[in-house]
Amino acid sequence: MANAGIQSDAAVAVIDDRVVAVGSQLELERRYPDAERVDCHGGVLMPGLVDSHTHAIFGRARYEEQEQRAAGADYLAIAAAGGGIHASVRDLRQRSEDDLAALAESRVRRLASYGTTTVEIKSGYGLSLDDELKMLRVAARLARTLPLRIVPTWLGAHEIPLDFRQRRDGRRAYIDLLVHEVLPRVAAERLAVFADVFCEPGVFTVAESREILEAARRAGLGLKMHADELAAAGGAELAAALEATSADHLAAISGAGITALAHASTVATLLPGTMLFLGKALQAPARALIEAGAAVALATDFNPGTSPTVNFPLILTLGVSQLRLSAAESVVAATVNGAAALGLAGETGQLAPGYSADLALFAAEDIREVPYWYGDRRCLATWVRGKACHQFDLPVA
Ligand code: NIG
Ligand code: FE
Repeated sequence: MANAGIQSDAAVAVIDDRVVAVGSQLELERRYPDAERVDCHGGVLMPGLVDSHTHAIFGRARYEEQEQRAAGADYLAIAAAGGGIHASVRDLRQRSEDDLAALAESRVRRLASYGTTTVEIKSGYGLSLDDELKMLRVAARLARTLPLRIVPTWLGAHEIPLDFRQRRDGRRAYIDLLVHEVLPRVAAERLAVFADVFCEPGVFTVAESREILEAARRAGLGLKMHADELAAAGGAELAAALEATSADHLAAISGAGITALAHASTVATLLPGTMLFLGKALQAPARALIEAGAAVALATDFNPGTSPTVNFPLILTLGVSQLRLSAAESVVAATVNGAAALGLAGETGQLAPGYSADLALFAAEDIREVPYWYGDRRCLATWVRGKACHQFDLPVA
C-alpha cells in the first residue's frame, strides 16, 4: 500500500475502453503517433476513485439529527426513538421511483465531480419487498443512464422495520421475509451484486447476520458487512469466517477481529467521515490493520444520517490525519483496494494495461496535494471506460 507506483512525465494510452500502455510521454507518442491527445497540463492523473460504500439513494436530508447529537443524543438512541434509518425509511416509502432516481442522479453526479468513477450503492431504506426492489431498480436505472460504473448492493438487513420491532416474534418474521421473499426476487431479477448486513448490537446479531449472508451466498450474491462500527461484537470475525468481500466501518474492531481479517481475503473498508460527522473521537485502527497484513480500503459511506459528504478526496484527508495513513496509502486505499472491495481488482482502480480506462485528473503537482487541500474540489476531469464522465473547468493554481 505504501507504493502507489507514481511516475513522472508519463502518458497513458487508451484504446476504446481500455488502458493499453502507461509510460514515458515520448515513447507513447512514438508508439501511437495518430492518437488523439488530451493535455493534462502537468496535473496528477490517477485511477478514478472507487467509492465502495455508499447509500446514495435516499429522499430527504436528516439535518435535524446533527443538532440532536450535538445536544447529547446518541446515534442509536435517535434510532430507538424512531429516527435515524427509520426516518429515511418512512420518507423513501412515500416516494416514486422517478422521484428517487432524479434525486440520486444529481447526488451521484456530485460524487463524480470530486473524482469518483465507480460507486457502490446500497438499498436499505425500503425494508419491504416493494420498497427494496424500488431502490434497486433506481440503482439499475442509474447504471444505464450515467457514465459512472455503479455496483448495486442489497442491504435489506439495514434495520428491523418499526412495525416488525413492535410485534412479538417480529425479528424472526423480518429475517424470514428477507431470506424467503426479498432475497429470491433480488437474485432472480439480478438487481444486486452484493448483500450487506448491519451487524451491530441493537440491530442484527452475529448469528442473524450469518444466516442472512449464508442465504445470500447460496443465491449467488457476494458478501459485505457493516461490522463493529460502534461496538466490537464479532462482526469482523464473522466477515473473515465467511471470506466476505469486505468488512466495513470497524471503528470498534477487537484485536481478534484484526487478526481474523489479516488472515482472510476480506478487505477492511474504513469510513472515517462517519465517525467525524457523528462527533465521535474513535476511529478505526488503520495502522494496526495494515501492520497485521489486512488490505485497507477507504470510502465515503455517503448517506443522509451519518456521512452526508460527496467529497471523496476529503475522506483521503481524514485517511492521513485521522487514520495515520501516508498519502500513497490513502490513494491506494481509495483505488486499488476500493476495487478489491467490490470484486473488481482486475478491472478498475489501477492505471495498467488491460484495465478499464477509468481516470481522474487533479489540479496538483504532487499526489500528496490530493489529501492536502482539504475540502477543495481539485478534480478537473474524469473518464470512465475511456469516455469523458465529468469535466470541470478550474484554474490550475
Ligand atoms: O453506514 N451504519 C449503518 N448504516 C449507515 C447509516 C445509515 C443512516 O443513518 O441512515 C452507515 O453509517
Ligand atoms: Fe453504511
